[in-house]
Amino acid sequence: KQHIGVLNGLTVLVTAGPTWEALDPVRSLTNHSSGKMGYAIAKAAVQEGAAVKLVSGPTNLTPPKGIDVQPVTTALEMLAAVEDSVSSAHIFIGVAAVTDYRPELYEQQKIKKNSSVLKLNLIRNPDILANVANRAMPPFTVGFAAETENVIDNAKAKLSTKGCDWIIANDVSMISGVLSGDENTVHLITETESEDWPTLSKTEVGERLAKRIALNLSDELGSSSVGS
Ligand code: C5P
Repeated sequence: KQHIGVLNGLTVLVTAGPTWEALDPVRSLTNHSSGKMGYAIAKAAVQEGAAVKLVSGPTNLTPPKGIDVQPVTTALEMLAAVEDSVSSAHIFIGVAAVTDYRPELYEQQKIKKNSSVLKLNLIRNPDILANVANRAMPPFTVGFAAETENVIDNAKAKLSTKGCDWIIANDVSMISGVLSGDENTVHLITETESEDWPTLSKTEVGERLAKRIALNLSDELGSSSVGS
């Protein structure tokens, strides 16, 4: 019996994992990110019938079956991969922990520890989520925000500065291990509401998010087709 998913016929683009910004052949700047949340969302979207493309920074996870996975290392590579695929996506979910700054210079040889202080010049990386949300014809765009304080207020601010449709906010201050663990406690922030979700496995967060997005898109379609 075939399960008709709520995202049947839709294309979903997901970013997951960290990015690595190399300083020299053996060192990088990065963020802590297991990639588990993004992979769980990608899997949930496939189970709901979507065609899923996953642009993934370096993780230890096995690429899920049925998903077109494009591995990348740096933020600039992640942006390029997203730009290649986003025009055909109906939904974009940015879960990657993108490194905010990259070294200005890449040293071809391993940097020697000759001095007691080493100064690095860092350059701001592009904001991939904001780039997607500010396109002329953006997909339905969801960002993730890991916060350590004022979780809801900071997430609401991000919704407007980045211009995305929804933010999933999670408090990473209390639960140690949320970044590498299998559970997450999140809040769904939209322009008009903030919804507290119970602590769920990352798999369940993915499933719930896939269903909420589908419901929202079908509501939007329903209301825009009224009278047409
Ligand atoms: O501003 P902050 O990094 O907390 O925002 C997190 C959200 O923005 C996540 O969805 C993340 O994937 C996205 N992001 C991005 N590109 C960046 C920084 C963050 O897409 N350079």
